[in-house]
Amino acid sequence: MTTSAALIVDAPSYARAVDTAVDAAAAYYAGGTSPLDDDAYDRLVREIAAWEAAHPDQVLPRSPTGKVAGGAAEGDVPHTVPMLSLDNVFSAEEFTAWTASLARRIGRDVTRFAVGPKLDGLAVAARYTEGRLTRLITRGDGTAGEDVSHAIGTVEGLPERLTEPVTLEVRGEVLMTTAQFTYANEVRTGHGGQPFANPRNAAAGTLRARERAYTVPMTFFGYGLLALPDTDPATADRLGALTYGELMSLTGELGVHTSARTAAADIVAESAERVLERVAEVAAIRAELPFGIDGVVVKADLAADRHAAGSGSRAPRWAVAYKLPAAEKITRLLDVEWNVGRTGIIAPRAVLEPVVLDGSTITYATLHNPADITRRDLRLGDPVMVLRAGDVIPRVQAPVAHLRTGAERPIEFPARCPRCGSDIDRREERWRCSQGRTCHLVASLAYAVGRDQLDIEGLGSTRIVQLVDAGLVTDLADLFTLRRDQLLALERMGETSTDNLLAAIGRAKQRPLSRVLCALGVRGTGRSISRRIARHFATMDRIRAADAAAMQRVDGIGPEKAAAIVSELVVLAPLVDKLVAAGVSMTEPGATPPPDGETVTGDTADGDTGTGDGGAAGATAPAPGGPLAGMRVVVTGAMTGPLERLSRNEMNELVERAGGRSSSSVSRKTSLVVAGEGAGSKRAKAEELGVRLATPDEFAVLVGDFLG
Ligand code: IVH
Repeated sequence: MTTSAALIVDAPSYARAVDTAVDAAAAYYAGGTSPLDDDAYDRLVREIAAWEAAHPDQVLPRSPTGKVAGGAAEGDVPHTVPMLSLDNVFSAEEFTAWTASLARRIGRDVTRFAVGPKLDGLAVAARYTEGRLTRLITRGDGTAGEDVSHAIGTVEGLPERLTEPVTLEVRGEVLMTTAQFTYANEVRTGHGGQPFANPRNAAAGTLRARERAYTVPMTFFGYGLLALPDTDPATADRLGALTYGELMSLTGELGVHTSARTAAADIVAESAERVLERVAEVAAIRAELPFGIDGVVVKADLAADRHAAGSGSRAPRWAVAYKLPAAEKITRLLDVEWNVGRTGIIAPRAVLEPVVLDGSTITYATLHNPADITRRDLRLGDPVMVLRAGDVIPRVQAPVAHLRTGAERPIEFPARCPRCGSDIDRREERWRCSQGRTCHLVASLAYAVGRDQLDIEGLGSTRIVQLVDAGLVTDLADLFTLRRDQLLALERMGETSTDNLLAAIGRAKQRPLSRVLCALGVRGTGRSISRRIARHFATMDRIRAADAAAMQRVDGIGPEKAAAIVSELVVLAPLVDKLVAAGVSMTEPGATPPPDGETVTGDTADGDTGTGDGGAAGATAPAPGGPLAGMRVVVTGAMTGPLERLSRNEMNELVERAGGRSSSSVSRKTSLVVAGEGAGSKRAKAEELGVRLATPDEFAVLVGDFLG
C-alpha cells in the first residue's frame, strides 16, 4: 500500500507528480498527515528532478526541487538568517563526489568533518535574549516561520535560561523520543484523539498545538548557534570563528541539550574514509537509539572551510545529509496472530501486507501485548506505520489514522489459550497460558538444551517432538531419566545416536548452576542475570531460600524483578526437586558460598548495610577476586587463538569467572574491551573514549588461569 513514485512520462504526469510532492511536503511540515512515507517522497522528488533535467524549459516554479524543502507553511516571524535544508547523498560514491565538489569550490581538501546524527524531528530556532528564551520559531518556508513560543517549557533540553546571559539563536531539532511518543499516544487516545503515526508527526502536531487539555514532553537537540542582530560584536565574532565541534561544546555549556551524550554523538573525522566508517557505525546502532534518525549529517568542521564554501539558496554547501535507508513505511495490518512462547507468554504478532523495508520484505511485525494494542487504538485493516532499523524485528509504530477508510474492525483478543485451550492468566500486561511452560513444552525444552544453556548435543527440535509425542518427556527433568531401551524404541534412533545422546545428557548434568538456572527459563532472567544470581548465591538451595530482599542484592536486579523471580522459583520448585533427584548439579564452580548459618543481610561491598530483612538466605557474594576484579568488560568481534571456540556467552562466563562483569555496550564505565576480528563500532567507541583495548590473545594471557 506504499504509494510508489508515479512514472513521469509527459508534462501532465510531471505536473501531477509536482502537486503530489508539494502536498506531501506541506503536510509533512505542517503537522504530518502525508500519505507518502519518506522513502516514497524521496523517490518522487528524484524522479521529478530527472524529468526536469531532460526538460529544463518546462520546470514548474512550484517544483519541490528548486526551493527550500517544506516551504509550504506560511509563517509570520522572519528568520534573521535563512533556515536552510540539506542536500542528500545516498551512497559512498555520492558522498565522495560531494567531498570532491566541495574541495573544488574552496580550492583545498577538507580534512576535518563533523559527523553526527540526522535527527528526525522538526527544525526550530530558539531566540535567547540576555540568556532568556524569548521566542521559539519553526522553520516555515525557511525565510519566516511560525511562532510556537507557547511550547516553551514543554521541550526538554531547551532551557528557559542559559547558564550565561548571552543574546543568540540556538537552532536544532525538536523530536519525541520513543518513550515520549508512546506516552503522547497514550495520553492522546485517552482524551479521545487519534493516535499519531510516528514520533515525527507527534512532535510536529504537538509543537503547533495550542490550548490542549494536556501537555506531552518533547526533546530538543541543538545543532547550530548563531548571532542575532542584538548579539554583542565580540560574541558574534567568536561564534563565527569556532569549529563546529567547539560550537557544540559551547551549546552544551550553555545548558542546551545536544547529541553529545548519545551513542550517535558528533565526532570529528579526519578523512572521508573515517566519515564513511562513522556512517556505518551510526547505521549499526540506529535501532538501539532512543530517538529516530533518518541519516547522518556531515559538516565541514573548520569555520574557514564553512565560510569559503558558503550556501546556496536551498542548502549550505559545507554540509550534506547522508541518508540511511528508510526505516519506516506505511502498510496495512491484515491480521493479528497469537503465539505462545516457551514460557507460556501469549504474544500478539501483526500480519502485514508485504512491504519492502531496508532491503527486505516485511510480512510480520511485533505487537507487544493486548494492553498495548488497546492503548494504541489499533484495528484490523488499519494503515500502519511499520518501523525496521538494523536487524531488529520490525515493529508496528501506530495506525495512520487519517488514512483509515472506516472499514477497520476491532482486533479480537483470545478468550482461551490459542495453543492448548486452557485459561489465560491476565494478571500482568503480558498474558500467559495458565499451563505456563508446559503449554509449549517443545519450545521450552529446545531452549533449555540449547548451546548457551544445558548444551545437549544431538537434541534438536525434531527429536524433542518425538520424545514429547511418545510421552517420554513431560518436563525438563524427564530428559535426565531417559533409558536406553526407551530411546532405541524411537524411530530413526540407532545404537550410536542413542549412546551419543545419553552421553550428552550425562554431560549436561554437570553444567554450572548458572546454565541450569537459565535453562529453567525463569521469566525476567536471561543468560546474564542467571549468571549473576548463580555467582551471588553459589548454590540452588540458597537461591531458593532467598526472599525478594535477598534477591535484590544481586547486581542488576531491582525490586520488581526480584519479586517476580522469587515467585517464579516457587512455581518451579517441583521441577527443580525433580532435577536434583535426577542428579543434575546445582552449584556454581568458583563461587564460594558464604559460611553456613551466617545471616549476612547486605552486600557491604556495595555500601548496602542491609536492614536485616534478608532472612536466612541473605547470602553475601564471595569477595570478588581474579584478574578482572572490579572491571567491566565488553567482548566484541570474532575470537581467535586459545579463545577461538568460545561463544559470546562462554566469553561472558569467562569474564565473570575471572571476577569481572560482562557487558554488551561500551561506555565511560567500561574498563576493558576485548576486540577480536571484525570488531566495528564498539572498538571505535572504545578508542574514542580512551577505554583500554585488548586482543583475544592478550586477554587469554590475562585470564589464563580461568580458561576451562
Ligand atoms: S545542520 C543549514 N544537523 O535536517 C541546515 N541539521 O533535511 C544545517 N537536521 O533543516 C542543519 N539533524 O532540520 C543539521 N545534526 C543535524 C541535523 C539537521 C537534523 C535537519 C534540519 C535540516 C534538515 C534537512
